[in-house]
Amino acid sequence: MIRAGVIGAGGMGAVHIKNLYENEFVQLSAICDVNAELAKQQAELYGADYYTDSSKMLEESTLDVLYVCIPPFCHGDIEEQAAAKGIHLMVEKPLGLDADSVRHKAKVIADSGIIAASGYCLRYLDTVAIAKEYLKDKKIGMVRAHYVTTPVPTPWWRKKELSGGQLVEQSTHTLDLVRYLCGDITQLYANMSLLLMNDIPDLDIPDVGAIQFVLDSGAVGHMQTGFIQFDHRSGIEIMGRDFRVILDGTTVSIVDKDKEIVYRSKSNFYRNLTNALIDAIRTGNRDLILATYEDGYKTLEATLAANTSAETGQPVKLR
Ligand SMILES: NC(=O)c1ccc[n+]([C@@H]2O[C@H](COP(=O)([O-])OP(=O)(O)OC[C@H]3O[C@@H](n4cnc5c(N)ncnc54)[C@H](O)[C@@H]3O)[C@@H](O)[C@H]2O)c1
Repeated sequence: MIRAGVIGAGGMGAVHIKNLYENEFVQLSAICDVNAELAKQQAELYGADYYTDSSKMLEESTLDVLYVCIPPFCHGDIEEQAAAKGIHLMVEKPLGLDADSVRHKAKVIADSGIIAASGYCLRYLDTVAIAKEYLKDKKIGMVRAHYVTTPVPTPWWRKKELSGGQLVEQSTHTLDLVRYLCGDITQLYANMSLLLMNDIPDLDIPDVGAIQFVLDSGAVGHMQTGFIQFDHRSGIEIMGRDFRVILDGTTVSIVDKDKEIVYRSKSNFYRNLTNALIDAIRTGNRDLILATYEDGYKTLEATLAANTSAETGQPVKLR
């Protein structure tokens, strides 16, 4: 059995806790949250030990894998502590808010040899797999992406110093899929503003943003991000000569001159992520991890670069 621990039992932590509990190869050993009541409630529900201090949990429990499901501003050195103990990791996106510190963590993780996944769960969609397979030998010319939705009620999400803003914290999923399906971003330029939602208390993050980017293949792209709507829409249109692949939410359409094929997803992408990670740990097959910690770092770097571009008015080149 793979002994699992989870730090952060809030909205996302609770989903991962349930999926871990339901995996036949997992023993859910320990749950930690600074909110003692929440930690205790989740631990009692699933028969795990509970903690309010993550260092104490890492000292006292014997774990094979640790899920880090806390907001990006408070990771501290949890990843380094886990890597030093040889505990495999699943770290929720965004991996942090400072590129240098996350790059340092990525190096510590790589040197330790542990398996480390990031929480870019949409990579585990069946429809994303279909898109990736179709695109594997295609030349892409242009990408149009969007993530436009409603405001998130979580208090820390509204503060730039705590969440990094919507692109870093939320729309990052769509920019990550652009990277996964189309290649790395080498240059970008962004405009962002807080224009319409400034009556929400304690909110200082841009509610509209437009990012123009260049991919390593030379393809060009554009993405809109915002939370000025009453419903959620996200998607990507990837165009080459005489074809396009459209991801609309979790549905994918492949369109060329002669036909249009539509696939609707049947995946539970959160469960797929956990099952893939547990199988990777059991078998040692790292190829099962579709979004590594390193992948998460590269996507974080692109979203932070977009923030820098919006602040300075200058384009930013990425490594
Ligand atoms: N992959 C996805 O689709 C997805 C969806 C939602 C959230 N997330 C990510 O998951 C992370 C958590 O988001 P959330 O929505 O669950 O937030 P949340 O505020 O609902 O929950 C976070 C929990 O972490 C706890 N916490 C904070 N600091 C802690 C610490 N040092 N030690 C232990 N517990 C601590 C809080 O008490 C809270 O219960 C964020 O990075 C977010 O971006 C990912």
